[in-house]
Amino acid sequence: MSDIKDFMVNWVYTDTVKDHFMNPRNIWRKDDQFKPDGFGEVGSLACGDQMRVGITVKDNRISDIRWLTYGCASAIASTSMMSEMVKGMTLEEAYRITPKMITDKLGGLPEHKFHCSVLGDKALRAAIDNYFDACGLPNPLKGKIAKVVCECRGVDDQQIEELVKTGKVSNLAELMELTGLGTGCGKCRAKAEAMIAEFKHIYGK
Ligand code: FES
Repeated sequence: MSDIKDFMVNWVYTDTVKDHFMNPRNIWRKDDQFKPDGFGEVGSLACGDQMRVGITVKDNRISDIRWLTYGCASAIASTSMMSEMVKGMTLEEAYRITPKMITDKLGGLPEHKFHCSVLGDKALRAAIDNYFDACGLPNPLKGKIAKVVCECRGVDDQQIEELVKTGKVSNLAELMELTGLGTGCGKCRAKAEAMIAEFKHIYGK
């Protein structure tokens, strides 16, 4: 039987992923006195992953953040990295964070694990939306950024566009395989298929 040393040698993730998985930053612990100004939750336990993010806001910037997830190593490392990246950002900068920006900072993720990284930024946006709602303020950011197509897996229209544009996806089966889209309730499949056709047309694929 292989021991822990063999396991770590065969680990397919970058050292940065390993570090954030083994030592996740800004976890929302049970005894934490953290009081969020905004709170967001995406995914569902029925689909196998769920993400909660809480933020505090000062002078239109994220002053602190906590998160909690039921997810795999990639989801934990991605959200840990995201939580470090957005501290001090303006709300608009944080709202524009994408899974690709996070995975780039991690030094990449295996392609079949990319979909595990897509919940953190969506939960963050939900927390920012909730902050504006809680303060009774108009939300200047909502609707200007990527729209979620698959709620169960947190896949948005910008991701689909990029995958089609770069030739990584040309049909629904490939999109499902790569992102996990459509593998929960399935209600997003028809819409995603139509979007793939549209983007293929736009980008001549
Ligand atoms: S919305 Fe449920 S699988 Fe896409």
